[in-house]
Amino acid sequence: MSRSPIISDIRLAAQALREGRLVAFPTETVYGLGADAINEYAVAGVFAAKERPEFDPLIVHLADTIFLKQIVTEIPPVAARLAERFWPGPLTLVLPKQEKIPDLVTAGAPTVAVRVPDHPVARELLFEAGIPVAAPSANRFGRLSPTTAAHVAEQLDGRIDWILDGGPCRVGVESTVVRPEGDTVELLRHGGVTVEALEECLGVPVRVATPVLDERTPAVSPGTLASHYAPLVPLQLLPMVARETLPTARLGWLAFRHAPEWARPGDAVEVLAPDGNLQAATAVFFAALRRLDAAGVSAIIAEPFPETGLGRALNDRLRRAAATKHA
Ligand code: TXA
Ligand code: MG
Repeated sequence: MSRSPIISDIRLAAQALREGRLVAFPTETVYGLGADAINEYAVAGVFAAKERPEFDPLIVHLADTIFLKQIVTEIPPVAARLAERFWPGPLTLVLPKQEKIPDLVTAGAPTVAVRVPDHPVARELLFEAGIPVAAPSANRFGRLSPTTAAHVAEQLDGRIDWILDGGPCRVGVESTVVRPEGDTVELLRHGGVTVEALEECLGVPVRVATPVLDERTPAVSPGTLASHYAPLVPLQLLPMVARETLPTARLGWLAFRHAPEWARPGDAVEVLAPDGNLQAATAVFFAALRRLDAAGVSAIIAEPFPETGLGRALNDRLRRAAATKHA
């Protein structure tokens, strides 16, 4: 029997959040594991359930932009502009925090990451709960993000109170994380809002923080760590693999448009979007990686996506998965 029941009762879930319980809930990007952001005890439960190190801060979710002034001390014009344009939606803003936001939420940083999700169930839940909700992606630390309620149950059953079901996530990759910097922003994580869309809104170039793929380099945004978003099976990224050195055992292939030429009979193949639509590929990305992970293959070989639009977020996740060391 499931110890973290999958439910569709939004009021029950909202009540549970107010009582300091842990509730996984759908957003347009991925499922989040929510807790009352002001309740340190509840937030500590999120870190425990995920086995997440406490140096990695959480995103606070709001029902509406109007509540932003209740948790931050300053809204620079650039942030106001982006919020106006992209909220509700897959954009996270890093802003100076008010004192009431516990240090545990921000990993001791004077800033808090915040967003208004664009999902009817998430918004109703947040309105009904009437509190800011801290929520990382609802997976065990470092593993693949969940895009269905069943994915959440696979990793967190028995560790959390409820899983609120809202169907599969529409976007499929996490929010873009940015920090205001004068008249532009520094991009800390690629995600559902593309660099192109941000630049179009701001009218100036965005500064993309150098990705940290080496564990010895300290990260500006802790979630930009190497070895993240990883399947259990080792993942290798083309073109860094030579055909001659491919393992002889059965392989899994993650491809964008076409089945890879190198795939052999019996290999598991996931083609994400035969029509070349990056949005469609993003929506099924984590689910396809999960299927390959469960297919009994010795390694997953992934093809990079075009380095444009949402392709940047997908390539970022693949590089981190490839950087993961397997015992
Ligand atoms: O789409 C999403 O963002 C999902 C859904 C549930 O909203 N959430 C999510 O949370 O992906 P999580 O915890 O997996 O990723 C949060 C990211 C991490 O990269 C973290 O380092 C960064 O946000 N972050 C949080 N607070 C920060 C802060 N104060 N300064 C810089 N980066 C911060
Ligand atoms: Mg995550």
